[in-house]
Amino acid sequence: MTILITGGAGFIGSNFTQYCIKHTNQKIIVLDKLTYAGNLNNFENLQKSKFKFVRGSIEDKELVESILKKNKIVSVINFAAESHVDRSIHGPYEFIKTNIVGTFKLLEASLTYYSKLSSSEAEKYKFLHVSTDEVYGSLRNNENPFTELNQFKPNSPYAASKASSDHLVRAFNKTYGLPTLITNCSNNYGPYQFPEKLIPLIILNAINSKEIPIYGNGKQIRDWLYVEDHCSAIMAVLNNGKFGETYNIGGLNEKTNLEVVNTVCDILEELKPREKDKYKDLIKHVKDRPGHDQRYAINSDKISKELGWYPSVKFEEGIRRTVKWYLNNLNWMNEIISGDYKKWIKKNYF
Ligand code: NAD
Ligand code: DAU
Repeated sequence: MTILITGGAGFIGSNFTQYCIKHTNQKIIVLDKLTYAGNLNNFENLQKSKFKFVRGSIEDKELVESILKKNKIVSVINFAAESHVDRSIHGPYEFIKTNIVGTFKLLEASLTYYSKLSSSEAEKYKFLHVSTDEVYGSLRNNENPFTELNQFKPNSPYAASKASSDHLVRAFNKTYGLPTLITNCSNNYGPYQFPEKLIPLIILNAINSKEIPIYGNGKQIRDWLYVEDHCSAIMAVLNNGKFGETYNIGGLNEKTNLEVVNTVCDILEELKPREKDKYKDLIKHVKDRPGHDQRYAINSDKISKELGWYPSVKFEEGIRRTVKWYLNNLNWMNEIISGDYKKWIKKNYF
């Protein structure tokens, strides 16, 4: 029983790979292009005998087909994506290529493989596509959280590319009968997140005494979920989800960006106090993100009622674990802060 995890060298994919190794007996193949966001150091603590890494793109249909066939893959879990909203604003094309064309090629390869399976093999086959709550657009503060029935109203090129990929996955189920599942999750946080995203970026800047940039007024709201809870939700959908269905996954944990930043600063103050001033003194309001979504919030009643999944890590606990992880893994962080990373920071913030 071998599963294929695409984009498995990124933040959530590598956490999911670790989760599978810890909780299942499945063999794993990770296929990853190793863009700036993919990192083989994310596997440093893994039992290497249980998984194999292949460098390549989901856009390479022949490669994907040969991996599926050679390893008799039973499930594909697709994490591969360009995932950063700000980068999609500066350069949307890579998002169209990977998130739309790449997902399409992955679906095509899967369908070719699936259509040649024996009926007993075909019964076991599953294609799970990992997506985002951003496809639903932005909520006002007094609106109800997103359910699976909300209309798609993506606002950034990233969100639009993910929405397109979700539509393609749905179409491959309805038209060709490919056994697909889709998950739409809220903001994740935890170990191995690339420090372009809010939480690792503020930790990194704070410990290096650099400004902590808050876009606009900092009152935008996100629904934060500890990454391990996302992994258990994906596993629940993979094991018991209904084909052709979509499942929303959220943390029941809405916070403004300022609340998140202040919490991280408080924890840092306790674990690694600054000598003269406070971490909060580093907070600086900067130019807002164009098209900045005000609020995301997820109604995860469907996955809770149908599959018995609930988030298990409280924010206070998860954020403390996360800050500690980054403080204890400065080597991991330092290896990332290459010339490319510096160029990105310059482009986005100056
Ligand atoms: P990430 O940017 O950390 O990782 C993405 C991975 O995909 C990287 O390892 C990268 O090398 C790889 N990749 C990129 N293009 C590829 C291609 N063409 N072929 C193969 N591999 C490729 O992203 P993440 O935060 O781990 O997100 C993973 C998935 O989860 C994405 O699909 C994202 O849309 C979704 N998601 C993320 C969040 C979040 O808060 N981070 C929340 C909900 C959903
Ligand atoms: O909701 C799920 C999505 O969450 C995922 O689909 C995306 O892949 C993931 O990147 C994330 O998108 P966000 O745009 O919400 O995450 P980000 O960490 O970039 O920003 C979180 C909030 O913090 C957002 O309101 C913008 C703000 N922000 C971000 C950065 C990087 C700042 O104020 N300053 C910053 O420097």
